[in-house]
Amino acid sequence: MAKIALFHGPNLNLLGTRETNIYGAVTLAEIDARVIAAAAPNHEVRPLQSNHEGALIDAIHDARTWADGLLINPGAFTHYSYAIRDAVAAVKLPAVEVHLSNIHAREPFRHTSVIAPVCIGQICGFGWRSYLLGLRALLDHLQDQS
Ligand code: DQA
Repeated sequence: MAKIALFHGPNLNLLGTRETNIYGAVTLAEIDARVIAAAAPNHEVRPLQSNHEGALIDAIHDARTWADGLLINPGAFTHYSYAIRDAVAAVKLPAVEVHLSNIHAREPFRHTSVIAPVCIGQICGFGWRSYLLGLRALLDHLQDQS
């Protein structure tokens, strides 16, 4: 069984009502339920959303003690949080970055991810299904390593 820490960054608690033309109508609770269901029964997913950079960093550090991998949508922190990047690099857990929207097709400031270079890879543009694709990629990676 693999244990996956699922992290969502700022404003993602508003999914379902927030800019639904970009992010879709699915709520964060529904996304969490779908990822947990996709991982079951063989793998465990523990979700956490925070609007606070430090809380996410603490949770990434804590994941070192129990998780096998990280699935992370850092929200806007994607584009500028060197602190989250350093936390992901520090814990040395395989990580997959996901985004609902195709960040490369949006405003120029979204084209850069400072987190992606310390991840196995990045999946974006598939709405809530980006999370399922990211989960699959992470589990396959962990399987390859075992
Ligand atoms: C996002 C893309 C980010 O640019 C934005 O700040 C978000 C959501 C996405 O999932 O598409 O909050 O991470």
